[in-house]
Amino acid sequence: MELAGKVALVTGAAAGLGAAAARRLAAEGAAVVVTDVDEATGRAVAESLDGLFVPHDVADEAAWARAIEETEARHGRLDILVNNAGITLMGSIEEMSLEGFRRTIDIDLIGTFLGCKAALPLMKRGGGGSIINIASISGLQASANLVAYNAAKAGVTLMSKSIAMHCATTRTGIRVNTIHPGVIRTAMLDKVMAQVPDPDALMAGFVAVHPIGHIGEPDDIAEMVFYLASDRSKFVTGAAMVVDGGATI
Ligand SMILES: NC(=O)c1ccc[n+]([C@@H]2O[C@H](COP(=O)([O-])OP(=O)(O)OC[C@H]3O[C@@H](n4cnc5c(N)ncnc54)[C@H](O)[C@@H]3O)[C@@H](O)[C@H]2O)c1
Repeated sequence: MELAGKVALVTGAAAGLGAAAARRLAAEGAAVVVTDVDEATGRAVAESLDGLFVPHDVADEAAWARAIEETEARHGRLDILVNNAGITLMGSIEEMSLEGFRRTIDIDLIGTFLGCKAALPLMKRGGGGSIINIASISGLQASANLVAYNAAKAGVTLMSKSIAMHCATTRTGIRVNTIHPGVIRTAMLDKVMAQVPDPDALMAGFVAVHPIGHIGEPDDIAEMVFYLASDRSKFVTGAAMVVDGGATI
């Protein structure tokens, strides 16, 4: 119970990596605020963890203000923020519409920007904390058919370093790090597979780029979330933590 007394907010926590992270943090004793646009599933996850659910679109600044207000009203503090909510739209520069590009940037990049901005004052009042931004190996290396996602996740990567630098040099006690998962089996992966004509070939390709011989599971990422959330990582800030079965070696 290393996180007893801590309060965590996890976005996009109704499913996939967010739900796994919320469960892992709760198992270590943190009080967890679950947020998601998917109200029914998000509420069920929150109830299973004895946590608070806040309906929340991360691309909406007013919704962020409400999420932080509700967190403060319930718990009085915020120690851990996991900016996890995200979407993946496949498409090359020739295929991607401006609308799809903007939507990806709005949710994956601006949603993370808004989360950091909204959470900082409450975290500062509590004397510090840990912000964990879920990027991707697609924030470190390019794919021809991920022009929008590459742009958004690369943005999350360097933006997080900027915020880490600010928080460190202004002595806020807040650490900011990114996690870069390889391909992980979640609903997002199913949505990506549904966008291509030959999903089996895509999956075989995913496995082939992971030297370890298989894709990952949500708990592989939840372990890194726990590490970055806890004082075990007290000297780690501005870091890009790659959890990818060797995909970027
Ligand atoms: N699954 C992978 O292979 C993989 C790999 C690298 C990075 N990631 C990143 O991990 C994060 C989680 O991915 P996942 O695979 O668990 O996805 P998922 O689709 O399984 O779950 C994402 C959750 O975010 C929610 N969501 C979507 N848009 C939202 C919005 N605007 N506001 C609030 N909630 C919203 C969805 O309702 C859903 O519950 C994403 O940022 C994704 O880019 C995933």
